[in-house]
Amino acid sequence: MKRLADEKVLVLDFGSQYAQLIARRVRQQNVYCEIVRHNLTAERIRELAPKGIILSGGPASVYEPGAPQCDPEIFRLGIPVLGICYGLHLACQALGGRVQGTPTREYGRAHCWISQPDELFAGLPAEIEVWMSHGDQVQASGDFEPLAATATCPLAAVKHRQLPVYGLQFHPEVTHTPEGAKILGNFLRAVCHCAGTWKLGDFARETVTALRRRVGDGRVICGLSGGVDSSVVAALLAQAIGPQLSCILVDNGLLRKDEEESVLREFSQHFQTDLHVVKAEEKFLAALAGVVEPQEKRRRIGHAFIECFAEEAAKIENARFLAQGTLYPDVIESGGTPDGPAATIKLHHNVGGLPKDLAFELIEPLRDLFKDEVRTLGLQLGLPEDIVWRHPFPGPGLAVRCIGEVTKKRLDVLREADAIVVSEIKRAGLYRETAQAFAVLLPVQSVGVMGDARTYADVVAVRSIHTEDFMTADWSHLPYELLAQISTRIINEVKGVNRVVYDISSKPPATIEWE
Ligand code: XMP
Repeated sequence: MKRLADEKVLVLDFGSQYAQLIARRVRQQNVYCEIVRHNLTAERIRELAPKGIILSGGPASVYEPGAPQCDPEIFRLGIPVLGICYGLHLACQALGGRVQGTPTREYGRAHCWISQPDELFAGLPAEIEVWMSHGDQVQASGDFEPLAATATCPLAAVKHRQLPVYGLQFHPEVTHTPEGAKILGNFLRAVCHCAGTWKLGDFARETVTALRRRVGDGRVICGLSGGVDSSVVAALLAQAIGPQLSCILVDNGLLRKDEEESVLREFSQHFQTDLHVVKAEEKFLAALAGVVEPQEKRRRIGHAFIECFAEEAAKIENARFLAQGTLYPDVIESGGTPDGPAATIKLHHNVGGLPKDLAFELIEPLRDLFKDEVRTLGLQLGLPEDIVWRHPFPGPGLAVRCIGEVTKKRLDVLREADAIVVSEIKRAGLYRETAQAFAVLLPVQSVGVMGDARTYADVVAVRSIHTEDFMTADWSHLPYELLAQISTRIINEVKGVNRVVYDISSKPPATIEWE
């Protein structure tokens, strides 16, 4: 990817939940952006030669012992710096200001008055709405000039008098700061002088060329899961090396309704790749028989998957490469780049992942992209919207949503209920707005009446959420009429279900999946 970026911006990560969001926002301005360790030396940053540096927020207080610091020399490299929240505090602390705790944490929307015209705020009204989330604030600004204030925060935006260093107490990267994109755009263009030439179209073209060069006349194996990431990898490879690509789809019996068919249709009709379908439903069901403990389910599914995949891959002659849909967030969270942040604990061990010792060379063409970029790329490559906008689906599939024992009968109930949830949400035009919507089959039965008879049948929970990053999520406020329609259809059409409940928990503390 480095070859692609004529100009780039670095985000120094101080542990903010928003670091990835900042990088995405920068890329949305057509400027390539990478997240790096907070303590990268000024020397290394000079070598990387970014056009700008953004210091992320973070949960610590800069004055606490052990709080993450940056190399103070970075402020003197002549490269423009924008500190956001914790990043602002660090800049001020390093350059003679003073940061203190405030008696009450400020969290939420605030009005911000721009007091000093500056290129950072070009094209903005004098009063803007901003999103605050901080316990500390800058008390004495030292050599910083105040640019904007809120009712409780006199130094909501500052600029250094001699150095190209800016700071914002609020978060321009979140959608709750409606003018945030404009502020970041001003920083990138007016302050950093970025031309904004990074485009996904170039990415596709250059990646196809690079893949051809790397693969030569070798054969590449690619696992298809039905998800957008593996589909985009396969579509990229199909374009790059067409007949040298072999795709493997493991039908584990845990896919959503019609998922296998739609992927097969797409890849056999449009891409004409060598396609191998491993029919392994029985193997997976046998492995899962009697297991209720979620981690054990994941472990067994993982083993079965690797066995099936390796067995099929061994049948493909001259296969030298294995393609995987690793994305940039996976790379960052697993500490997979030399300059990147240290590994954080991954929320999920993706059981779709394959062991490294499969004796293939790994190809990960999406490892520099965020999910929204992968989707755009998928559309550019001609994948249909149905695949590109499909909601994410866990590697262990419906087993994660079939709480209790996983049997064919229970999976079929769940699959039907899930298809109703998704189709009704699509019919209401809310599929794109909801980041994930699905049914969960609970391991309890409850009493009901049908006709004159007493029933004792299954309960289905409906989960629908919206989120930017899947790290936090809100339950969707779906219209009552839609919920009623979903409930009526599930109870009428799915045999064995007499009760439907709607999950109104946010993440945190609940997770998106029930497990
Ligand atoms: P939770 O349930 O932790 O899930 O809020 C966050 C997101 O991760 C998805 N998920 C998985 N994705 N392999 C995956 O690729 C998995 O094993 C897995 N488990 C959960 C979940 O659907 C949600 O989008």
